Amino acid sequence: MRFAETVASGEHAHAGRAARIRAKSAPEAEAVVDLNAIAHNVRILRESARDAAVMAVVKADGYNHGAVPVAKTALAAGATELGVTTISEALQLRRAGIDAPILAWMHTVDADFAPAILAGIELGVSSPRHVAGVVAGAHRVGATAMVTIKVDTGLNRNGVAPDELDQVLVDLARAQAEGSVRLRGIFSHLAHADQLHHASIDSQRERLVSAVGDAKRHGLIPEVVHLSNSAATLTRPDLRFDMVRPGIAMYGLSPVPEHGQFGLRPAMSLRSRVALVKKVAAGEGVSYGHEWVAPRDTTVALLPLGYADGLPRALGGRFEVLLGSALRPGIGRVCMDQVVVDLGPDGGGVSEGDTAVFFGAGDHGEPTAQAWADELDTIHYEVVTGVRGRTVRTYVGGA
Ligand SMILES: Cc1ncc(COP(=O)(O)O)c(C=O)c1O
Repeated sequence: MRFAETVASGEHAHAGRAARIRAKSAPEAEAVVDLNAIAHNVRILRESARDAAVMAVVKADGYNHGAVPVAKTALAAGATELGVTTISEALQLRRAGIDAPILAWMHTVDADFAPAILAGIELGVSSPRHVAGVVAGAHRVGATAMVTIKVDTGLNRNGVAPDELDQVLVDLARAQAEGSVRLRGIFSHLAHADQLHHASIDSQRERLVSAVGDAKRHGLIPEVVHLSNSAATLTRPDLRFDMVRPGIAMYGLSPVPEHGQFGLRPAMSLRSRVALVKKVAAGEGVSYGHEWVAPRDTTVALLPLGYADGLPRALGGRFEVLLGSALRPGIGRVCMDQVVVDLGPDGGGVSEGDTAVFFGAGDHGEPTAQAWADELDTIHYEVVTGVRGRTVRTYVGGA
């Protein structure tokens, strides 16, 4: 899909012809997204949410799974609203014909809210400056802006700070009275959702409830109150309020891996074809710096996926791929465009053109994004959103 976008926007006279020619062979490196897995995960989250609505979080291009196909799949599977960070992400969904409610919750103070207001995007506000900007936008286009207050209940990141809440409520009440805004909701985001019983969770819940009370005293009655991300949706039923806002679990990655997988199915699988198979003699070094030296005569496979495509250089010599029904160790440094794996003396029956799986659901013994995250001392969110470069995104399953 990314390849198609690249070609479509290319300046070459032969771009169309190139697309036709290249379309005949499978892409060199591919992030395969299983939309059936996304639908399955949404259904699990729907069940956990019970009476609460599900807002599918598709920011950052759907955690790099493709915001539009993920949003359409999630809505078909029972989510009723969408959440993104920026207005441009929200407008991209509208342009794709999605008319479900969409909330965008992070803005600079000089953001142009007018296009979002016209497109019926719900705007999360985090300060009196945001309220002023939204009201100005509503006046300019002569429409009512839909607003949700993002309350900072202890994450101390985005959201209305406690000392500004009263001003936000006063300004919003005035704007609502004159018809330039309509309050849709009040929400907040947890700092320790992945630590099920962390004391801050209850404190954040209480502060949210208190902010809702303050709003009501100003005549601002929210239709929806929400707090839970994936971890809270799956582990803290007491935090459901009117809606939950899961992101990572929808992509099949457990928000609290130490508490299990909750039946979620990872949706992204990172693969590449084998570009070359060759013999390497004992004592020969492989890749830059010769950090790996063949201990015996062996056969290696060259995989066209490098750090520019989302295979972190830090994984050099510390990862395996599933190739030819066995795990093969990565050897030597990860380069910008490629990496080498050892097939052993007999080559393991691997041929040029075969497919190696770098990470996936794990069902066939392939490594998982979680395993990469553990190795890299990071979180799987960063692993899946880090896939990039020449990697082509393709889809399986779905309508
Ligand atoms: C405000 C907000 N709500 C919900 C989510 C979804 O979180 P998660 O992916 O952990 O479910 C995020 C993501 O960080 C977020 O920023």
